[in-house]
Amino acid sequence: MSHYRMPILDETGYVVLDSYGGVMDPAEWLTLEYVDWKSSGDTRFAPIASAHGEIECNGFWHANPPKADKDGVWIPSQVAKAPTLAARAQAPGANVGRSRVIELQPNTYADCLYNSHLDDNNRLNPGGEGWVIRNFMQLTDNPDSIMVLREDVRDPSTETRLRLPAGAQLVVDSERMWHSVWHTGSQPRYCLINSFESGPVLEAWIEANHGITRVESAPIDADYAAAEELVAHERRDARTAFYGHDPSAVYSEA
Ligand SMILES: [Fe+2]
Repeated sequence: MSHYRMPILDETGYVVLDSYGGVMDPAEWLTLEYVDWKSSGDTRFAPIASAHGEIECNGFWHANPPKADKDGVWIPSQVAKAPTLAARAQAPGANVGRSRVIELQPNTYADCLYNSHLDDNNRLNPGGEGWVIRNFMQLTDNPDSIMVLREDVRDPSTETRLRLPAGAQLVVDSERMWHSVWHTGSQPRYCLINSFESGPVLEAWIEANHGITRVESAPIDADYAAAEELVAHERRDARTAFYGHDPSAVYSEA
């Protein structure tokens, strides 16, 4: 039995929602406890909800007992430090799996393309239940940084570049869409990432936040993009040769 998928993601694999209008206090994400977890570049993660309430970032299927990326357990010490972030993750009312803040150091477009990956969102997710997708709630104001989405990681023509000002809110089928962030700042970027189960509750939240399924890509210099594309694919090909397979295709656990 197949999973329930939200029709709004059919066309482009992403939805851009209204920007968050509430107050965002950096003390919430800066005081969280982070763990080193390399994903998509130079990153650390601060889990707010994990498989069983521990401060760790393993895929839920590695937990004991293993579970799908749903029914995340809120971590009291982290929720105490970031109550607004936890509340925002819970506000849609959808089933939440992992909920975590990512810290990403500045990188290049080539780094971003090298790091592009598919998420393993639906391992152990029973058929007939909702397809797990990701929600991104941008915390720091990085209007010149870009979420790079591709239907085909090797085809730049399938790319959409979404700006990341403070408050930006996205829903992405990140098991279908290759994704990573090109962060151009001088300071780390912080973003709350939630795993949500697809269903009518989440659809109502997307509708209430005026989700749109296609936005114009942020511009990029064509010569720069072409040069970085070559660099990225040389590095990706070398990695694939090293492992004997492409580790970025539905193997990412972060
Ligand atoms: Fe991802």
